[in-house]
Amino acid sequence: MINVKTPDEIELMRESCRIVKETLDFVGKNIRAGMTTKEVDELVYRYITSCGAIPSSLGYCGYPASSCVSVNEVVVHGIPSDRIIVDGDIVSVDITAEKNGFNGDAARTFLIGDVSEEKKRLVKVTEECFFKAIEGLQAGVPLYDIGYAVQTHAEANGYGVVRALVGHGIGREMHEDPSVPNYGKKGAGMRLKAGMTICIEPMINMGTYKVDFNRDGWTVTTADGKPSAHYENTVLIKEDGVEILTL
Ligand code: MF3
Ligand code: CO
Ligand code: CO
Repeated sequence: MINVKTPDEIELMRESCRIVKETLDFVGKNIRAGMTTKEVDELVYRYITSCGAIPSSLGYCGYPASSCVSVNEVVVHGIPSDRIIVDGDIVSVDITAEKNGFNGDAARTFLIGDVSEEKKRLVKVTEECFFKAIEGLQAGVPLYDIGYAVQTHAEANGYGVVRALVGHGIGREMHEDPSVPNYGKKGAGMRLKAGMTICIEPMINMGTYKVDFNRDGWTVTTADGKPSAHYENTVLIKEDGVEILTL
């Protein structure tokens, strides 16, 4: 079932999404080589709770942390651990925060120190995939135009688009309908409606699109061990465009 949000609900979404954005800014200012991914998670927990919000991922289907911290070959859902972040890593931090019953969800991939040109390009193209996807996006546009735009840009750059995980609607629940794939056929799928709030989150691999699911039940890695990047925002669909709530 697809929830179209009322103006009051959208106000509450704006607040949760603002907290997510600020938390990611705070992480961006503080993340550095030598830290463990668990220390990054502590920054996230501290910032979100200081805003009177709740880290939605904590306890979600048993997930043990406030953020997903995914280094290099980890695509998404990296569980914060004693893994030390080193110079040259790319580290995606994905967070969801709930306040007043509504969720915001966003992810950034941070460059740590002296990152290779090829990894920098991967991160840049992944962000571009998101912005290509929202070009011309508004009520009435078919859902799969989003994935078509992401896939076209990623594959034109020689990258693999992760298929096994997708974006999603968001609101009272972290994951609501519809699923928002990063691949697809132009013109296909339902037509977007004003008031829908969705997460568009390209997960782009330097090599194969194929991924492995770790026995820990969460960590997703690239099948070939090459790096992957992730960029996500919560987006409000309007009659005449979109509003990026987590920017
Ligand atoms: N934030 C992730 C997403 O973009 C979901 C993480 S679920 C967790 O959909 F439990 F792993 F945190
Ligand atoms: Co997320
Ligand atoms: Co998401």
